[in-house]
Amino acid sequence: MNTRATSHYATPFAERFGLRLPLVQAPMVGATTPALVVAASNAGALGSLGAGAMAPEKLAAEVAEIRGATSRPFGVNLFVLDPIAPDGAMLRRALDAIDPLRAELGLPPGRAPERYAPALRAQLEQLIALRVPIASFTFGVLEAADVERLKAAGTYVIGTATHVAEGIAWRDAGADAVCAQGAEAGGHRGTFIDADKNPLVGTMALVPQLVDALRIPVLAAGGIMDGRGIAAALALGAQAAQLGTAFLPCAESAIAQDWRKRLAASSDTATSVTRAITGRYARGIRNTLMDRLEAEPARVAPYPVQNALTQELRQAAARADRGDYLSLWAGQGAPLLRGRRPGCGTAELIDALDAEWRAASSRVSRAAQVE
Ligand SMILES: Cc1cc2nc3c(=O)[nH]c(=O)nc-3n(C[C@H](O)[C@H](O)[C@H](O)COP(=O)(O)O)c2cc1C
Repeated sequence: MNTRATSHYATPFAERFGLRLPLVQAPMVGATTPALVVAASNAGALGSLGAGAMAPEKLAAEVAEIRGATSRPFGVNLFVLDPIAPDGAMLRRALDAIDPLRAELGLPPGRAPERYAPALRAQLEQLIALRVPIASFTFGVLEAADVERLKAAGTYVIGTATHVAEGIAWRDAGADAVCAQGAEAGGHRGTFIDADKNPLVGTMALVPQLVDALRIPVLAAGGIMDGRGIAAALALGAQAAQLGTAFLPCAESAIAQDWRKRLAASSDTATSVTRAITGRYARGIRNTLMDRLEAEPARVAPYPVQNALTQELRQAAARADRGDYLSLWAGQGAPLLRGRRPGCGTAELIDALDAEWRAASSRVSRAAQVE
């Protein structure tokens, strides 16, 4: 146990998990590693593993690795998805747009994979058996009976909401807390009610509306990059800030070098929300892959089919360090990374965030005292 986790508790959520600061390191498939989660939790934040793409055995192995290196609380995140069976015509349409891109990376024409995503039921049974401290979910809402089973196993349950109706759905299913994912956020949108309308409520507007509507703890995610953002999230009524993009350049993150370079070079207008890469709306830095797949919207299959069909291409791009063919998920705050030391350790980042949010909070309270 890291002794730096001191008693400066800021919110009931931070206190419940003995956090040094009200900070969640966001779960991120493709970026989070057991080493990142351990470093975040040991430094006094709440580390979270993105396990949505993992088979149950891998999920168990990574949780064991985390438990072997920290005795502090951590979270595991899964995707709430229904099974899907795409028809041949849908696959052909999608592959006709993807195959020319595959050819540019020297890959043969694509084929239908054996499965499109791990089965949620098997992942969930594994998670319940593992009795992890915290489980969070995105892309849908669990049945109340599953939430109850997780809670009976001693797991604290967090659902993701991108608008108020989704927060209410999670509260009614029995969630302990809700993560409010604002439009600024990097990565996939968690939207599951009115997803076709792609509702994009910003963090500043979403957090207080969820706080008022739910009366269970709300975590704020989306565009928060430094201590000023954490202090702002708390002022809006959130009990913690969940940061994703801020952790992408850390030494323990798994992302490719070219992704790191493009993050460092990005601007406030560099990202877009697109469904062309995976079939589900997600925010990332615009590149060739996004432009080319967006040019043929009628060929984009729904998630997780499109995700599976573009996966080999994106894996080859990662091996070749070709950012033009990667899904470069990132939030609108990415340019704020330029104030950080490139490749800095997770613990160093958390130390900086801790000092920054305390300084920002005292600035606000000093300003409030001025007559
Ligand atoms: C590369 C990347 C991968 C992500 N993967 C997941 C995921 O697997 N599960 C999830 O709930 N959220 C995922 N997210 C979203 C984050 O949980 C969070 O909402 C977001 O990072 C917050 O916005 P920010 O990036 O501006 O900090 C991902 C975000 C990024 C940038």
